[in-house]
Amino acid sequence: MKRSGICFVLVLSACGAKPAASTSGTGGPASGNQGLVAFETVRGVLQHARCQNCHPRGDTPLQGDDGRPHLQNVQRGPDGHGMVGERCTTCHGPMNPPDSYGPHTPPGVTTGWRMPKPDQRLVFVGVAPGALCEQVKDPARNGGKDMAALRAHLDDPLVTWAWSPGFGRTPPPVSRQAFLDAWTTWANAGAPCPK
Ligand code: HEC
Ligand code: HEC
Repeated sequence: MKRSGICFVLVLSACGAKPAASTSGTGGPASGNQGLVAFETVRGVLQHARCQNCHPRGDTPLQGDDGRPHLQNVQRGPDGHGMVGERCTTCHGPMNPPDSYGPHTPPGVTTGWRMPKPDQRLVFVGVAPGALCEQVKDPARNGGKDMAALRAHLDDPLVTWAWSPGFGRTPPPVSRQAFLDAWTTWANAGAPCPK
């Protein structure tokens, strides 16, 4: 068991070096192995600072490429929009401030900056790949979403924001299109999860 687990990790990381290869030129339904390779690309985005800063384990969102705790004692609050008197949208407007404002400005989106509700916290930080995979596709933990609804969520401004995150912030490791392609390959393969 242990031995095959190690081989599996090696295979994933070897293929993960060029994730685009797994999604190009697919004709039929992707195999389970292609699905697992594609999930590794998806995982690399979910666990990038741009995504996991809003998906922490505790109730404090994180900031910056190093994922440090949010200043000003900002908390998730009962609805994910912050505490009374310290709502996310007090500081986070409908769009990023212009680059000319420099670093450390609060980014923004049209749909209202927020983090997941306390009863559906969708933790991405520090979760092993298999557990992350199971969590994301579990309707009991993802807000009742099936695979189609999950895919629709990927077009939400909160998610697309990560690829235009504002001055001084690194976008996720692969392009948005490569992320969506990997997601589709994973979903079409039956959304397999690493063991
Ligand atoms: C500004 C905070 C924020 C950022 C940044 C963010 N998310 Fe989320 N995410 C949320 C919230 C809030 C929810 C809960 C659903 C909702 O309220 O729309 C959520 C839910 C999800 C879900 C589960 C589906 C669902 O609707 O519950 C997935 C998958 C997800 N996010 C992926 C991502 C990815 C991928 C990125 C980065 C590319 C990202 N998120 C960045 C706030 C964020
Ligand atoms: C008092 C103002 C203020 C409030 C309230 C506030 N923020 Fe922020 N937030 C900021 C500022 C300023 C930054 C930029 C910090 C930086 O880049 O160093 C920021 C950055 C962030 C980032 C980091 C983006 C990234 O990937 O680097 C996240 C995530 C975030 N806020 C989430 C939230 C959430 C969720 C709430 C509500 C629960 C909230 N913030 C409430 C001021 C605020």
